[in-house]
Amino acid sequence: MDFSAFREGERKGWSARARLYGDATARVTLQTIPKLLDHARLFPGAKVLDAGCGPGFVAANAKLLGADAEGIDFSEGMVAQARDQFPDINFSVADVEDLPAPDETFDAVLSNIVLFHCRVAL
Ligand SMILES: C[S@@+](CC[C@H](N)C(=O)[O-])C[C@H]1O[C@@H](n2cnc3c(N)ncnc32)[C@H](O)[C@@H]1O
Repeated sequence: MDFSAFREGERKGWSARARLYGDATARVTLQTIPKLLDHARLFPGAKVLDAGCGPGFVAANAKLLGADAEGIDFSEGMVAQARDQFPDINFSVADVEDLPAPDETFDAVLSNIVLFHCRVAL
């Protein structure tokens, strides 16, 4: 399988599982978010990108800490789920391998359980 086929399988697979994610996969992935946010050393108003946001839990928790958070994911289903769950946060469809913002747009780019799905590191 070449990488583009793998990537397309991932994208469609995550969309198909987006509605179930909160009651299944998130039971594992939520566990790392406190540590991730602790290391990020956010401050009130910090601009934060949740890269590979899935249903948006990192962005939502960063917002609770006072950050100005948004999220991107290449799965349309995940972005739809994130928008449903957290309507006051901006989520959009985009690829973490090609971030849709110039350098220094964000104070922190956070990515929870995503990078091993990607070809390049952030
Ligand atoms: C294990 S889930 C983690 C979701 C979320 N970060 C969390 O903590 O619940 C992996 C997520 O990475 C996304 N993803 C994988 N490769 C991506 C890429 N190249 N660009 C954007 N999102 C990607 C998937 O669509 C999926 O939502």
